[in-house]
Amino acid sequence: MTFDLQQAARDHLWLHFTRMGTYGSTDVPIIVRGDGCYLEDANGKRYLDGLAGLFAVQIGYSYGEEIGQAALAQMKELPFYTNWSYAHPRAIELAHEVAQLAPGDLNRVFFVSGGSEAVEAAWKLARQWHLVRGERRWKAIARRTAYHGTTMGALSINGIPALKNTFEPLVPETLHVRNTNRYHRPPGEAEEDFTAFLLDDLEQAILAAGPSTVAMVIMEPVQNAGGSFTPPAGYFQGVREICDRYGILLCADEVITGFGRLGDWFGSQVYDIKPDLVTSAKGLSSAYAAIGAVLATDRVFEPFLDEKAMYTHGMTFGGHPVMCAIALKNIEIMKRERVIENVRENESYFRGALEQLKELDIVGDVRGTGYFYAVELVRDRETRETFTDAESETLLRGFLSPRLFERGLICRADDRGDPVVQISPPLVAGRAEIDELTGTLGDVLAEAQERVDVRRAEPATRTPGQRVP
Ligand SMILES: Cc1ncc(COP(=O)(O)O)c(C=O)c1O
Repeated sequence: MTFDLQQAARDHLWLHFTRMGTYGSTDVPIIVRGDGCYLEDANGKRYLDGLAGLFAVQIGYSYGEEIGQAALAQMKELPFYTNWSYAHPRAIELAHEVAQLAPGDLNRVFFVSGGSEAVEAAWKLARQWHLVRGERRWKAIARRTAYHGTTMGALSINGIPALKNTFEPLVPETLHVRNTNRYHRPPGEAEEDFTAFLLDDLEQAILAAGPSTVAMVIMEPVQNAGGSFTPPAGYFQGVREICDRYGILLCADEVITGFGRLGDWFGSQVYDIKPDLVTSAKGLSSAYAAIGAVLATDRVFEPFLDEKAMYTHGMTFGGHPVMCAIALKNIEIMKRERVIENVRENESYFRGALEQLKELDIVGDVRGTGYFYAVELVRDRETRETFTDAESETLLRGFLSPRLFERGLICRADDRGDPVVQISPPLVAGRAEIDELTGTLGDVLAEAQERVDVRRAEPATRTPGQRVP
């Protein structure tokens, strides 16, 4: 008798962030193989992966053989050794490589196993950095609706109350400031006024918290949750100035934006952010391995050069040699295949194709950059009125997500903020994949539009008007 994968999945596997109860009656989606930008399920059906795994598989799915050889060679040479007190060649080479690619003097690399661990490690590092310099600072400031991971520290930093409430009390203390969602700002607002408004909000939050208690400000170059919020001009320069004014470390959370997603190695280069710390994971290995990293500048590392000083943090698997070998090979492939150049060459074409979706009334906004976009869906384009929670549930979970999957396109209908469809394909996607992606998405959104039109007679339960992030 052959092993029944479907039954075993239902009986034993616990999927992350998944309503497992829905799989009593429907099949668990089982992905069995991948090539290029495509995946195949257990029934032999193919899908275009418009989400790059989870914003992660930069080189697509065709490099298993080559990366596997690098992993095999490392397995034979040294299958494991730790970064606790010891170094090994692959961790050294990868740290060197990442430091070369990173902007400015982000010269020191601390390896972890993923994005949440990176955020966790950055916050702890920021706290300890202040302490070794004689100051007790502990608070972290992030932005509303931002996602930074799920371990208790990273979860506390998240700006999504629905994810956090269940697990309270959380790690003290975090504050949340406005994000760069421009779509729900007054239509006539000039960009520099928006920037000033956001910076004032940040500074007021710091002053209210007590500047000498704030250890770190953490922000993604482009915020994913809520839908690819790009920064207005001058924003990150202002954030940098404010952090400097109050002696606060600035951390760029580049778990998604690092390693090419925005058309450069780091989003910090795209927006000239000059962070003190960078968190990264996903694209570092194109998710072929469980590895992440915290990058720190010379200034942050300096107090730890003291003979008796030590960053009191570590995990067994941080800097695992096989994971490092895989990440090194991934970076080599990204360079050889000109993956970042591919993003730059196609990003305006991509954006143009997505902009055409605005012909549908349900599409309020298209935003993002590089290979990182979001389409915001609205109930009323004129007023920018968003859907009620119940409508959003029916539209996104009830219709869009399953329909896109049925049509062979994986992208994410997300309602952690206002409802958006997130689009973030492998960075090797070319124009054929972009056409297919935007074509299928357009068809499915047109169907969603029809459903909304049918329901339009029903009254909204939320008061019309703009929502401020
Ligand atoms: C910006 C950001 N930070 C941190 C994380 C957490 O990463 P991980 O899921 O690898 O723990 C994510 C995950 O999506 C993320 O998008």
